[in-house]
Amino acid sequence: MTSASAPGKVILCGEHAVVYGRPAIAVPVGEVQALAHVDAGGPGQGTLVVAQDLERTVAVGKADKEDPLAQIVRLTLEQIGGETDPDLTITVTSTIPIGRGMGSGAAISTAIVRALAEHHGQWMSSRAVSDLVYQVEQIYHGTPSGIDNTVVAFEKPIFFVKEVGWEVFWVGRPFLLVVADTGVTSATWQVVGDVRRRYEADPDLYSSLFDRVGAVSHKARTAIEEGNLDTLGRLMDENQALLQQIGVSSPEVDRLVAAARQGGALGAKLSGAGWGGNIIALVTRETSARVDMMLRLAGAANVIITEVR
Ligand code: MEV
Repeated sequence: MTSASAPGKVILCGEHAVVYGRPAIAVPVGEVQALAHVDAGGPGQGTLVVAQDLERTVAVGKADKEDPLAQIVRLTLEQIGGETDPDLTITVTSTIPIGRGMGSGAAISTAIVRALAEHHGQWMSSRAVSDLVYQVEQIYHGTPSGIDNTVVAFEKPIFFVKEVGWEVFWVGRPFLLVVADTGVTSATWQVVGDVRRRYEADPDLYSSLFDRVGAVSHKARTAIEEGNLDTLGRLMDENQALLQQIGVSSPEVDRLVAAARQGGALGAKLSGAGWGGNIIALVTRETSARVDMMLRLAGAANVIITEVR
């Protein structure tokens, strides 16, 4: 048997604007993980993907092209030059909440690629893994920027510009993020599609909002490199105000963001597509417990604390 895992992720700043070529910053969240195990299957069974959390079993040979689990297996087997439908059972489990902006689809795909490559005795670079996963992200999300597959495959904080490139950058002083779940699922492709319609209706307004978000990402990178957490917190607040104007916040998000700030967070914002999902708050060792408590009192369905380094 071979196994592989991949972490969740959060977007620190720049979501949505990143789809329009502005920079964004994303960080991996190792506290939640997707896992894939590959076992030899029975003769003639073909390749089965057993997604325990989704209570789904997919027969890769019979599934259509729009099935993300089957498609990532096909693309990987094609890339590594293996049989097209070998007798294998791939079991997938994940602790990454689905539809909450934590990259669960990208992490599941990444874990499958890595476990399958290892099963065939092949090594794949993180770039090759990320490129394969991007193809399946298009099934999940429509027109993704590519930030999710990149941060999940490389497992490092990244400064990302669509179709230009990305960089791992220096974290001057490790910092803590509280990730709090609104409990509301949202489909990234729907929110991204809605923003697209608004942008097309008023390109000048939206371009200027995206420019301002892009400026936040540049300043946030400098603040992280210099270990200036007060500035980073203020920039997260500024980003949240812009996301509200872009139209992707929600009452549940606003409630948790307010609770985090009340608890003493240096800054807070939604993370990912919005209309629910998770919020993130920048905290210190001194404030993390209070922010955690305030978020739970305000109705957070789950709270994770992760260190960015
Ligand atoms: C989703 O994690 C982030 C968005 O910017 C979409 C994307 O970048 O593909 C909303």
